[in-house]
Amino acid sequence: MHLLMETIILPWAVPIGTESYEIVEIHDRVSLTTGEGAEPVFVLNINGVDQSFDLSPDVPLLWALRDVAHLTGTKFGCGMALCGACTVHVDDVGVRSCVLPISGLVGKKITTIEGVADSTLGRAVQTAWLSNEVVQCGYCQSGQIMSAVALLKTVDSPSDADIDNAMSGNICRCGTYSRIRDAIKEAASSTQGKVE
Ligand code: FES
Ligand code: FES
Repeated sequence: MHLLMETIILPWAVPIGTESYEIVEIHDRVSLTTGEGAEPVFVLNINGVDQSFDLSPDVPLLWALRDVAHLTGTKFGCGMALCGACTVHVDDVGVRSCVLPISGLVGKKITTIEGVADSTLGRAVQTAWLSNEVVQCGYCQSGQIMSAVALLKTVDSPSDADIDNAMSGNICRCGTYSRIRDAIKEAASSTQGKVE
């Protein structure tokens, strides 16, 4: 396995479970390799499409998405399940892809920000994000939208407390929290009785 990262990894940003990797700088990039022989192939279903990943079992999903599948809408923030920037859905539940080894995801349905608008609910949330002009710098927003959709899959009409509780793990350094709350409520009301 030979995996390219987009930015130089600082020691504190190496995800849990990757301590055994050799990290080799290549100009402004780094290469992650286990230094071992042939790697197993994992077939993951991402946004409805089966894709093969010739990677070590403990490689986090975020790396497979961004650096192998080139689905770069999902962002790297903390690498430690603390910020929510890397949130995707596994079987419709919001998860932190930065700490989720690919070996446990075979046979599961993975949805990323690139595929979330394939559902009525995902489209409604993205529409509400636009009409409420939620985004500022945008870095956290893929994760925010994925967590919002996951919330609305389980709660049709969330209260402020429901929203705060569900979204508390998604950090926004630009402070867009009040607009996120408004957008979730708008998406909830626009999809009443229409979600498949
Ligand atoms: S990058 Fe995964 S939670 Fe921060
Ligand atoms: S919009 Fe900038 S971090 Fe959330």
